[in-house]
Amino acid sequence: MIGVFDSGHGGLTVLMALQRRLPGQRFLYLGDHASAPYGERHPREIYDLTQAGVESLFVRGCRLVVLACNTASALSLRALQQQWLPGRAPECRILGVFAPAVEAITHRPWQLDGRPAEECPTARKVAVFATRRTVESGAFPREIAARSLAVSVFQQACPGLAGRIEAGASRRELYDMIRDDVSRLLHNMDGQVPDLAVLACTHYPLVSEAFEAALPAATQLLSQPDLVGKSLQAYLQRHPEFRESCGPGVTSCLTTGDPLAVSERASSFTGQDWTFEALTNQDRAKATA
Ligand code: DGL
Repeated sequence: MIGVFDSGHGGLTVLMALQRRLPGQRFLYLGDHASAPYGERHPREIYDLTQAGVESLFVRGCRLVVLACNTASALSLRALQQQWLPGRAPECRILGVFAPAVEAITHRPWQLDGRPAEECPTARKVAVFATRRTVESGAFPREIAARSLAVSVFQQACPGLAGRIEAGASRRELYDMIRDDVSRLLHNMDGQVPDLAVLACTHYPLVSEAFEAALPAATQLLSQPDLVGKSLQAYLQRHPEFRESCGPGVTSCLTTGDPLAVSERASSFTGQDWTFEALTNQDRAKATA
């Protein structure tokens, strides 16, 4: 069983892409709705919440966990992989959502093995829309600059947007917020037009059409969920020990929040039925023991 963790139900955009790519695979999704949104929290809190979420998924039998949440990936992934996992569960793996997008933008592999950043024949301007903490972490510009000297990154934080999506705000309100965030980005770009845009927050693809409407027609929107799906499929080919190729493909969903309210909002936003169950106190106690 593969675990998928997100601060709320935005990570369903990633889960749906994984289900499409890996139909025989069982998934266990955990949304930390009780603590969402993560995007404005203190980095230490984000780390602790993410670690607790991954632990809950391990306790439920997942040996591979995808951190669907960009904020959790930006603030916690490296420390979890390097400092926590080796002592806690060396046989398990945690993957994030940055590597597939960075590889697609730079056309360079995530594992550089000491190779330096390269010039590319064509320079590209990339817009990154993300939470405040993801932007402040500098993870996207840093990882892109380590691989390519020809990509300029323009980041735009969208404060409050994930929270309003999570809360089930009207499309009208969300469109207005997104139009303002895109205008700020374009203003900071001084008349330049981004070649690519990445919605680097799991919640934003739920309103991707609003970004498309607000961005210049020449800007191509990269789908992070599709890239993550493709990348996980390739990872499982390299690591068949984590894979079920002919299972029933069942997905279960857990939440730290109110399961009824979460199921309703998640279903209305994705246009697909989801039934969330509560993460029990027992699970939590085991995870923190
Ligand atoms: N799901 C998170 C992400 O991908 C952010 C939403 C939040 O602020 O909780 O960045």
